[in-house]
Parts: sequence; C-alpha cells; structure tokens
Amino acid sequence: MAYKWLCVLAAAALQVIGAARPMCPSDPNCVCGGTLAVELNCNVDGRTVKINLVPDIYINIKCENASSLDYNKLPRCANRHNTFKSVSFKDCPLPDTSFKDVLTNMGVSKTMALIFQNTKNLSGYFDRKHFAGLQDLTKLLLSINGNTQLPDNLFMDINNLTWLNIRSNSINLSENLLKPLERLETLEISHNHMTNISSNVFSHLTFLRKLSLWQNNVTWFSKDFFTGVNVLEELDLSSNGLNELPASIFKPLRKLKKLTLFSNKFSSLPRNLFKSNRELETVIILNNDVTLKELPRYLFGSLTNLKQVYIQRCGLETVPYDVFVNSPNVTNISLAYNNLETLPEAIFNDQINLLELDLSHNNLKDLEPKLFSSLVRLEFLNLDHNQLEEISGSTFSSLLSLIYLSVEHNHLKTVSSYLFSNNKQRMYISLAYNHLHFENKELDNNTWPMGRMSPFSNTYNLKVLNLSHNEFTNTFIDWYLNGHDTLDIRYNYIKYLNDKYANIESTIKRRRANQDHSTHHILIAHNPLHCHCSNWDFLKYMKRNNFKWDDVGTLQCSTWSKFCNEDALIVFYTISILFLLSLAAAMIALMFVMKQRLYKMTKHTLQQVLQPTHPKIRPLILIIKCAEQDDEFVQSNFMSAFTECQSVKAEIVHPNNPEKIKAHKHDENGVREKRLTLVIFSPNYLTSAYRDVNIKKIRGEMLKAKKTIYVFVDIGPDNSIYAFLKEQRDYRTTLLWGDPKFWDHFRVIVKYMMYSRHTAIRERGTHSGDTEFSALPGYPNLYAIDTFAHSQV
Ligand SMILES: *[C@@H]1O[C@H](CO)[C@@H](O)[C@H](O)[C@H]1NC(C)=O
Ligand SMILES: *[C@@H]1O[C@H](CO)[C@@H](O)[C@H](O)[C@H]1NC(C)=O
Ligand SMILES: *[C@@H]1O[C@H](CO)[C@@H](O)[C@H](O)[C@H]1NC(C)=O
Ligand SMILES: *[C@@H]1O[C@H](CO)[C@@H](O)[C@H](O)[C@H]1NC(C)=O
Ligand SMILES: *[C@@H]1O[C@H](CO)[C@@H](O)[C@H](O)[C@H]1NC(C)=O
Ligand SMILES: *[C@@H]1O[C@H](CO)[C@@H](O)[C@H](O)[C@H]1NC(C)=O
Ligand SMILES: *[C@@H]1O[C@H](CO)[C@@H](O)[C@H](O)[C@H]1NC(C)=O
Ligand SMILES: *[C@@H]1O[C@H](CO)[C@@H](O)[C@H](O)[C@H]1NC(C)=O
Ligand SMILES: *[C@@H]1O[C@H](CO)[C@@H](O)[C@H](O)[C@H]1NC(C)=O
Ligand SMILES: *[C@@H]1O[C@H](CO)[C@@H](O)[C@H](O)[C@H]1NC(C)=O
Repeated sequence: MAYKWLCVLAAAALQVIGAARPMCPSDPNCVCGGTLAVELNCNVDGRTVKINLVPDIYINIKCENASSLDYNKLPRCANRHNTFKSVSFKDCPLPDTSFKDVLTNMGVSKTMALIFQNTKNLSGYFDRKHFAGLQDLTKLLLSINGNTQLPDNLFMDINNLTWLNIRSNSINLSENLLKPLERLETLEISHNHMTNISSNVFSHLTFLRKLSLWQNNVTWFSKDFFTGVNVLEELDLSSNGLNELPASIFKPLRKLKKLTLFSNKFSSLPRNLFKSNRELETVIILNNDVTLKELPRYLFGSLTNLKQVYIQRCGLETVPYDVFVNSPNVTNISLAYNNLETLPEAIFNDQINLLELDLSHNNLKDLEPKLFSSLVRLEFLNLDHNQLEEISGSTFSSLLSLIYLSVEHNHLKTVSSYLFSNNKQRMYISLAYNHLHFENKELDNNTWPMGRMSPFSNTYNLKVLNLSHNEFTNTFIDWYLNGHDTLDIRYNYIKYLNDKYANIESTIKRRRANQDHSTHHILIAHNPLHCHCSNWDFLKYMKRNNFKWDDVGTLQCSTWSKFCNEDALIVFYTISILFLLSLAAAMIALMFVMKQRLYKMTKHTLQQVLQPTHPKIRPLILIIKCAEQDDEFVQSNFMSAFTECQSVKAEIVHPNNPEKIKAHKHDENGVREKRLTLVIFSPNYLTSAYRDVNIKKIRGEMLKAKKTIYVFVDIGPDNSIYAFLKEQRDYRTTLLWGDPKFWDHFRVIVKYMMYSRHTAIRERGTHSGDTEFSALPGYPNLYAIDTFAHSQV
C-alpha cells in the first residue's frame, strides 16, 4: 500500500517537472538546463547572458559582460500570455526601446514588478520611453552605480506605481519627478548624495505610507519638508549626516508609527519633537556618531501608542525623569550602550506594561530603590556591563513577572537577602562576573543578622542560577535545595561543597517527602576544591538524590577513588593498623635493647618539639582606648572577659598617652598579628580625647576609622554631643553597652572586620579563628563548629 502511494507521488513530481520542461525554449543562441527553474545560458553576439525563470513567478536576466546588447536577440522564454510577478535585469545596458518592447519580445505580456540593477558603469540615460506601456507596473527598483539623470517626465507612463526604490550614486531629485506617482505608497531613495532635498518633493504623495531616505548625506531638512505627507506611517532617515532637526519637522506626520534614525550626528534633539505624532509606536535611534548627551524632557511623553523605544550607542549621559511620562503602553525599552550613570527614580513610573528593559553596557553605579516599582509585568531585565556594587532589598520586589534577569559583568559585592523574595517565576538569574561572596553581611533592621544568609534563600525553582566567576568561598544550602534546575558556580574559590552551617540531609528528606524527584544540574569546575573525602562523600550523596554534577569529570582527585570509597577504606585501615602494630612491636623490642640511649634522645627531641616555635593561631591584639576615668569600668567588664581567651591580647591605652600604641606589625614569634581597636566611647572619653569639640570632625573620624569598634557607654556627665553621636552612629562599627546581645554583636563585628573581603579568600578554610572568643560571656557556640561536623554524610 505504502509502495503504491510512493509511486503516485513520484509520478506527480515528475509531472511538475515535466510541466516546466516544455517551457524550455529552443533558441540557437542558448543552452537550456535547470530542474525546477529554467536556466538558459545564452551567447548573444559574443556576450554571455544568463536567464533564470519560474513561470508565473519571476524571470531574471543577467548580463555577464555586456556594455551593449541587442535585446531583440534574446530568446523567447514564455508563451504569449505569460504574466510574471517580477522581471529583473542585472548589469545589462539600457535598451534603446521601451522595456515593454523587450518584454513582449521575450514573450512576457505583463509584469507587476521591474528591477533594473547595474553595478557597472551605465552608458546612456533613462528616458520616458523606457517605461512607456507599463501601466500595470506597481513596483519599480532602479539601482544604479554611477551618475545618472532622471528626467522630470520619466515616470509619466507608470502612474500605477505603488512602490518605488531608487538607489543611485547621484540623482537630482527634482520637484516634478515624483508628481505622476500619485498612488505611491512606499518610496525608498538611498545611497545618494543629496545634501539638500527641496521641501516640495513629496508634498503631493498623499498615499505615501513608507518613506526611506537612508544614506543620502542629507544634512539638513527644512521644517516644512513633510508637509502634505499626511498618512506616512514609517520614516527612515538613517545614515545621513543629520545633526539637527527642526522641532516641528514631524508635525504633519500624524499617522507616523515608526521612526528610524540610525547613524546620524545629533548632538541634541528638539523639545516636543513628537508632540503631534500620537500614533507613534516605535522609535529607533542607534549608533549616533556624536554624543547625544541628554534627551529633552518629555520627549516620549503622552504617546499612548508608543510601544518600543531603542536608544543605543548614542552616548547618553542623562535622561530626564519625565522622558516616558504618561506613555503607559510601552513594552520594550532599550537604553543599552550609553554612558548613563544614574537613572531618575521616576523614569519608568508610568510603564506598567513594560515587558523588556535593556540597560546593559552603561555606567550605572546604583539603582534607585523604587526605579522598577511600576514594572509589574516586566519579563526581561538586562543590567549587564554596568558598575553596580550593591542592589538593595526592595529594588526588584515589584517585578512579579520577571523571568530573565542578568546582571553580569558588574562590581556587585552585596545583594540583599530579600531581593528575590517576591518573585515566584521560574526565573533565569545570572550574576556571573561580579565580586559576590556573601560574607559581607547586610544590616537587617539595623542589627547584625546572626546566621549566614544567602540572598537566594527565599528564591525557589529557578531555571538557572548563574553565580559563576564570583568570589564565593562557601556554598549555601539553599542553592542546592530550593529546586533550581541548573546551578552554575564555576570559577569561584570554593573548597568545600557542603554548606557547613546547614543540615542538608534533613532538608533533602523533607523534599523527598514532597515528591520532588526532578533532576538538578550543578556546574562546579574551576574551583579550588579540596580532594577531601567529605567532598567526595557529598558529591556521592547528592548524586543519589537527583543532583547531577555535570562537570565533575574535570575535578582531578586521584585519591578519591582510592580512599574515599568504603571498601577501600576498610582495607586501607586494616593495613595501616597491622603496620602500626608491627611497628610498635619493633619499637618495644628496640627499647629493650637500647633503653638508656633512647631515653636521652627522646627527651631531647621532645624538648625541641614542644618549644612552640611556630604557633598556628595568630593572636588578636586588642587595643582598648578609654578615658582614664573609665579604667575601672574597662577592667571589670572587658579585661576580665578577655583574659579568659588565650588568643586575645588586650591592652589599655589612654587618649592623652598615644605613644603607647606601638606600630609593631609582628609579635615576638614573627607571626603577623591581627589588631583591632576598641574605643570605649563615653562622655568621659569625648571630653578627654577631643579638646576642641567639632562634631563633624569627630564623626568623620569615626566613620573613617579602620578596624575600630566604638562602644558607646553612658558613663560620665550628660553631654549633648555624645548623645548626638550615639544617635547617629554607624551600626556596622559601633555597639551600645547595655545592648542585651552586646557580646553576640561584638563577635559578629569582630568577625566581619577580621574576615572582610580582602582576607577572606586566603584565610578561610585554613583555620577559622572563631575559637578565639569561645570564652566570652554568653557565647552561643555558633561558630565553634568544626567545618564538617554537620555534614553527616
Ligand atoms: C564575454 O565573456 C565571454 C566568456 O566569459 C567571452 O568569451 C567573451 O569574449 C566576452 N565578451 C566580451 C564582449 O567581452
Ligand atoms: C566608470 O566610468 C568612469 C569614467 O567614465 C571610470 O573612471 C570608471 O573606472 C568606470 N568604472 C567601471 C566600474 O567601469
Ligand atoms: C492603472 O491606471 C489606469 C489609469 O491610469 C487604470 O485605468 C488602471 O486600472 C490601472 N491598472 C491597475 C492594474 O491598477
Ligand atoms: C544636479 O543638479 C546640479 C545643479 O542643479 C548640477 O550641477 C548637477 O550636475 C546635477 N547632477 C546630475 C547628476 O544631473
Ligand atoms: C538648501 O536649500 C534651501 C532652499 O532650496 C536653502 O535655503 C538652504 O540654505 C540650502 N541648505 C544647504 C545646506 O545647502
Ligand atoms: C557627505 O557630504 C559631505 C559634505 O557635504 C562630504 O564631505 C562627504 O564625503 C559626503 N559623504 C558621502 C558618503 O557622500
Ligand atoms: C494604551 O493604554 C490605555 C490605557 O492605559 C488603553 O486604554 C489603550 O487601549 C492602550 N492602547 C493600545 C494601543 O494598546
Ligand atoms: C519586546 O519584548 C518582548 C518581551 O520580552 C519580546 O518578546 C519581543 O521580542 C520584544 N520586541 C522586540 C521588537 O524586540
Ligand atoms: C524589620 O522590622 C519591621 C518592623 O519593625 C518588621 O515588620 C520586619 O519584619 C522586620 N524585618 C525583619 C527581616 O526582621
Ligand atoms: C553563566 O554565565 C556565564 C557567563 O556569561 C556563561 O558562560 C555560562 O554559560 C552561564 N551558565 C549557564 C548555566 O547558563
């Protein structure tokens, strides 16, 4: 049955080809070939002419080397009444007669479109007679390289033309040339050098809907240039040398929908340029050759039909807050590739229908918190290649429809923990190429958060979370467990895969209880992962739970397969124990033999080893600055606390005795110490440390101080300056004595100061330094956890 159908189909196909074949004209000058299209290779008086045609559709005539040609000798290609949609001549000379005669001679009775292209030098000039008899023509394209003249009466006989395209090096567009073309709807005149087009050329083209004057070197338009062109919908003035436009130039264009202005030289645009263009939908201003530093106020204001605005590569530095005001139907805005440093907070206030916003490749340093607050329908936001360092909590909270967010190649260090808490979409988020590590904590309601928190802890089911090329040293449990399809954490500084503060196992169990069995992909290559069995175990454990480590093959830990798998481990331990036992036996035997000598030797060696020449933990030098009157307070509340922790060396200094603060960088063992200054800032301190009281100066000093913690203690006489400074204090570097969680906060700040960005990479993973404070009052034992005590895998 199937075979039979195949035969029928094949026969039908042959018939189609067969139908075309009889068309192949038998001409002594031509060789005919081709399958679906007829291809004729002709030699007309020694000149090569190639003809291609598909009946009823097109016929193309290409002259290879003919600067003159006897058109009468072209083959007859079609039956008498053959109509074609288009006929084109390429690199052929102008005929002596009308094109109509040439076509009739070739058997073409009618064509809708005529294309005449010549990239060589054209000999002769166009004349009215060339188009005589072509009343049916609706489309005409003339593309001529070289000088040509178009006489005023050229188009007299083709007044049914609706589409005209003239590309030429140089034509003189006279007022009368286009007069006969009353039905013209589309006109493109390009590649000309018409520096000055007179204003009445188009005024009678009352049906003109599309006009393109690109690449004409028109540098100047009169203000009534478009008078009479009342129904124009699309206008392209690209690639001219335009540097200014009369403010009222577009006034007659009440139907204008699309305006394209590539590659001009605007240094400014007039105000109210689009005031009358109520129908405007799309404006494209790209590649402006000089910097258009700013846009006029209200430029796109009150255009209720406006949908797309692209202003790229224009050197914009500022945009006014009301540039899009009252234009609520805009769906796409791009201001990419400019020099914007800030955007006014209200700029997108009315864009409730915006779907796509591209602000990439600018110099944006920060985003106003309410910048996006109206964009509830926004789906696509691109902020790549800017200078953003921080994105604060509510910035994206209104973007309920966002599905694509890219902030690659910025300087992001901080993103708020609540950034994505409102977004419920299956988003694609990329923050690749930033400086993120999430070790810098953000102030949360003006107090320090106690635990570690990832900004994605409230973000679920992403398509992609791309954190590659950042500075992470740790992973966070939510990255694995919030149901993202793909997590990219390549090119970071991650040594251990497990989130040491989290219990991953119980969360996975919970997830399984919720029937989540989907596969999650994780990319981890290019991290300095430790070849530690805990990593191996974690990888295996996650694999068993539907996590796919896509590039685990690139990790080269040869020891893993040998030692980390359980059987190998048993063998390894058995052998080790046997070896140790025999060693011990040998030792005992040896001891019996050379008791005395061995005793001396061992004692000597032990003495050497026990000398702590290379202590591992670096002491923390705490310089406590306080007023003399506050000494007692400091002794009883601070010094006593610090004497209990061995690795902290506290030292009291009085403000009027500063030489005591030695600038020593190394302690006696040659270990570089860490130092912090603790200022016991009381009214007493204020009066003893600052004789000439200048609030600004004191505050400035406080804000600038590095590795210095200020503790506000209310001891001493009432002092309004003290009260002011206390109220205005910087929560990141100051503490209040009397805060019930004083020591907790103290620890967090110290940790933050000691392990802030610059040192984090090197110090993390070697030793945490957290134990230093385990003796302090009320220590919750939060940080004293061994790195892998929680992994349980
Ligand atoms: C045109 O080209 C053909 C082959 O490419 C050549 O034989 C012929 O002499 C050329 N004719 C002229 C007039 O240059
Ligand atoms: C066109 O003609 C000009 C002068 O008439 C000549 O300089 C030029 O080389 C010619 N170009 C071509 C492609 O034949
Ligand atoms: C072309 O124009 C003439 C009048 O100039 C008109 O009678 C004729 O119908 C038109 N033909 C087409 C195909 O529009
Ligand atoms: C165009 O007009 C100018 C002046 O009217 C004349 O100098 C020039 O030769 C003309 N160019 C052509 C191609 O006719
Ligand atoms: C263009 O032509 C108009 C009048 O035809 C004249 O006023 C104007 O100065 C010309 N501009 C340039 C740049 O040649
Ligand atoms: C445009 O015109 C200017 C001066 O009128 C001229 O220097 C430049 O070469 C022209 N450019 C083109 C592409 O014709
Ligand atoms: C534009 O928005 C208004 C209300 O905001 C609405 O009434 C109108 O239909 C919209 N126009 C278009 C073309 O979408
Ligand atoms: C406008 O934005 C929508 C939503 O992102 C997108 O689908 C569409 O392709 C954009 N339109 C243009 C012309 O870029
Ligand atoms: C911050 O404080 C406000 C009011 O005091 C409270 O509603 C909010 O939940 C707090 N936020 C956090 C994260 O604790
Ligand atoms: C993450 O972003 C980087 C940089 O743009 C890119 O090379 C990588 O393919 C992205 N990863 C994923 C999973 O899309």
